[in-house]
Amino acid sequence: MSDQTKGAEPPVQLWTRDGFMGVFSVVTRSTYAPDYLSVEGPHAPRRAVLDRLIPDDRDSADALPTTVATSRLGVKLHVSGRRKPMPFVVRNVEADEIHFIQSGSVKFETDVGCITADEGDFVCIPRSIAYRYAPLGDTMRSLIVESPSALKLAPPAPTGMINVARDLEYAKVGPDIPAGSQTKLVLKAIDGENTVFTMPHDPLSLGMQLSESVPVWKLNLNKIQLLTYSPDGGPPSQFLSSSTGDVLLFNLSSRISNRPPIHVNADFDEVICYVRGPGVWGGCSEPGTLTWVPKGVIHHGPPENVPETYQAWLLETRATLRWTPQAIAASQLMETGEYGPHPSELHRS
Ligand SMILES: [Fe+2]
Repeated sequence: MSDQTKGAEPPVQLWTRDGFMGVFSVVTRSTYAPDYLSVEGPHAPRRAVLDRLIPDDRDSADALPTTVATSRLGVKLHVSGRRKPMPFVVRNVEADEIHFIQSGSVKFETDVGCITADEGDFVCIPRSIAYRYAPLGDTMRSLIVESPSALKLAPPAPTGMINVARDLEYAKVGPDIPAGSQTKLVLKAIDGENTVFTMPHDPLSLGMQLSESVPVWKLNLNKIQLLTYSPDGGPPSQFLSSSTGDVLLFNLSSRISNRPPIHVNADFDEVICYVRGPGVWGGCSEPGTLTWVPKGVIHHGPPENVPETYQAWLLETRATLRWTPQAIAASQLMETGEYGPHPSELHRS
């Protein structure tokens, strides 16, 4: 399984706190540490292709996105695949949301204006901003990250990684949304118990923008510059962070670097979305492949230096994620070398 075990030097194993920011330990081993024969229990690495995670809102316009993973901290992942516009409005009263558009074009109408997002866009909808969205074509697929702690762009320097003036777009008021008629407004809370108001009007019917600041924005993954330490690469740098630092997002697309070390991330679960090629990233070749390595599970990860290039992003969270039964049923156990299906999956009938 491992090229590294065949090399002249024994594989190095790294253990780190606070991602790559805290104390660490490095040892060598005689074996390829990521190998495992089988696993029972919820804290096991998994992979899923978003196209095969059929969300409830694909066939039922009245449904909310389908939850992929939850956590005690309230960090959640959902998948959405609407074919029809939302016939209701949602306001998440306990979490900020990032909607990553894996495929299709999506028009968002919000409390602070409208914005149209395309493939590769991250759309940020902070806590208590009401919204609804609609696919502009026949279909769409998005991955939604929910964070109780406020999210903000946090590149390592104010300019450089993100050209804010050029590439960050904000929601705009207009064209006019009519006052409309009776509309359902769903308030989402961390406990998953939704509260539904029936409003006499469309809550997203706005007049004009008066403030300078607009809290809803979009940014495309391919506009986020990659940071690498020449010539060996080093760890990636986040472009977005929560105020408590327990949710971090990184551009993890192909870059000039050596392969990551065999590694135990003591404090963060790692969720990577392989967005698309043309290049293949280790065991991931299908657009919209989601991989999850829970904290404390030893892993290697495929080489990132792929000349054909690919796009991917990484969510690191201090939350301990638990996949839902629906997501487990649509996913596979993952080996943590190249992030392909675990060999035991081949024996499943
Ligand atoms: Fe890692």
